[in-house]
Amino acid sequence: MSAADPLLELLVRGPVLPVVTVETPAMGLQLADALAAGGLTTLEVTLRTDAALDAIRAIRDARPELKVGAGTLRDPAQLDACARAGAAFAVSPGATARLLDAAAGHDVPLLPGAATPGEVMALLDRGHRAVKIFPVETLGGIAFLNALTGALPEARFCPSGGVGAASAPDYLALASVLSVGGSWLAPAEAVASGDWARVTDRARAAAALGPRSHAGEPD
Ligand code: 3PG
Repeated sequence: MSAADPLLELLVRGPVLPVVTVETPAMGLQLADALAAGGLTTLEVTLRTDAALDAIRAIRDARPELKVGAGTLRDPAQLDACARAGAAFAVSPGATARLLDAAAGHDVPLLPGAATPGEVMALLDRGHRAVKIFPVETLGGIAFLNALTGALPEARFCPSGGVGAASAPDYLALASVLSVGGSWLAPAEAVASGDWARVTDRARAAAALGPRSHAGEPD
């Protein structure tokens, strides 16, 4: 992966990647607008609801300037569905041979997940330099990423899982971290009550942490 890799460029432009789960396409669009108003123009819509793909399509069609991706990808067929919905990227919590085979050369770039050094090594072998580390806080947080970086310095990480406003700056201070992902930008109760101002406030604070400049540079 070179510094000009489109997936890497997408990830560093955050530098925080909001992970959102939506019940309707309209909710997805409102959330995307609330996040963008705070300065976060890249978001991940998880494929955890029936509305997810339609929400991705709605955001892509109405707000082409935003970068909307699909999260929680597990099945190779979902990559094609993401492409049809117009997803700019896809994210998986882990990686399987089937999924990685399908992702190789696919139009929709995949950010695959890993939770062990061996899993990161397998992804590097397949040419995936950017790796989601999930669930990072459970795995050991900053200390775990530092240990991974020491052993596998060419890898670039997108940690998520338990990251919040307080810990995001510490992750982003690591040269090996491209971006951090998390759902803290759009808390369920704010989304349920339509408290978009709260989402925008959180997005604004997160956007102020970037942009990243060093993480994508070649070693
Ligand atoms: C993800 O898919 O990246 C996670 O669900 C986000 O984890 P969080 O909800 O703990 O931020």
